[in-house]
Amino acid sequence: MLSVILDMDPGIDDAAAIAVAINHPDLDVKLITTVAGNVSVDKTTDNTLKLLTFFNKDIPVAMGAKAPLKKAFADASAIHGSSGMPGYDFPEPQMKPIDLPAVEAIHQTINQSADKITLIATGSYTNIAQFIQKYPNDLDKIEHLILMGGSISGGNCSSVAEFNVFTDPDATKIVFSAPIEKTMIGLDVTLKALITAETVGKIKDMGKSGDMLYKIISAYGDVHEGGKPMHDVNTILYALDPELITTEPMNIEVATDGPAIGATVADIQNRWHEPGTYNANVGVDIDAEMFNEWFIKQVARMPK
Ligand code: BDR
Ligand code: CA
Repeated sequence: MLSVILDMDPGIDDAAAIAVAINHPDLDVKLITTVAGNVSVDKTTDNTLKLLTFFNKDIPVAMGAKAPLKKAFADASAIHGSSGMPGYDFPEPQMKPIDLPAVEAIHQTINQSADKITLIATGSYTNIAQFIQKYPNDLDKIEHLILMGGSISGGNCSSVAEFNVFTDPDATKIVFSAPIEKTMIGLDVTLKALITAETVGKIKDMGKSGDMLYKIISAYGDVHEGGKPMHDVNTILYALDPELITTEPMNIEVATDGPAIGATVADIQNRWHEPGTYNANVGVDIDAEMFNEWFIKQVARMPK
């Protein structure tokens, strides 16, 4: 059983990632923290509470950053709709966020846990950067930080920048400089693992969870030839079965200004770093058919 904290900005693919994680028997989700990203933090928090109400799960939720460290906030409602979770009529949340900000909740949860924590971040990394800066002594209690974000082969916000990194490049730089074992699952992986129309058609008839996921995924504006990327779901797959995503150790630098702002630059030729050193494992490949089959299997274990 893996003890995890999720830091997210639901968001349609974040919602699917939460659905998989909280219904998986091998994951103990101890806390969910929220951040501004796909929509405002008020909405990402409300969406998280709606999902927990839908799945009848009592997991603490702590609200995090309203805006990036330095950059002006710009959402992705063009892709995720103005609510961040369109297409399904969710029940009103039956719970409230806890009375601690995200950074304090992460600190408390990590220190109360008997096991080391795997931290999974699928929004911009503002909360994680603030936590790293405020509680450096907590870092050895983190087993692994798994990030959805970045790319070493082109962006989705600019020609070089991926959305989560682009939203808060200053936070990303702090995260990549921190002495934590980390894996970056970026567009190099997530754009290979497109969920096909056939898969979406199959989950439609898989009870109330399948129906909900079918409806929100159908409303998701991230459309590519061959399907839709469920970016954030890949982090949960990696946490559970790391051998299913090919990774390589690399030194990643983050551009925080200029035309390349938000780029995650991989020093693959070791021009700027000592050969043999690295600051991240970087996901480079995944089997799309496997991802689709794995996703269907996850939906099959969700409430009918
Ligand atoms: C990332 O950006 C967000 O819109 C998605 O939820 C995902 O985390 C993909 O670039
Ligand atoms: Ca996200």
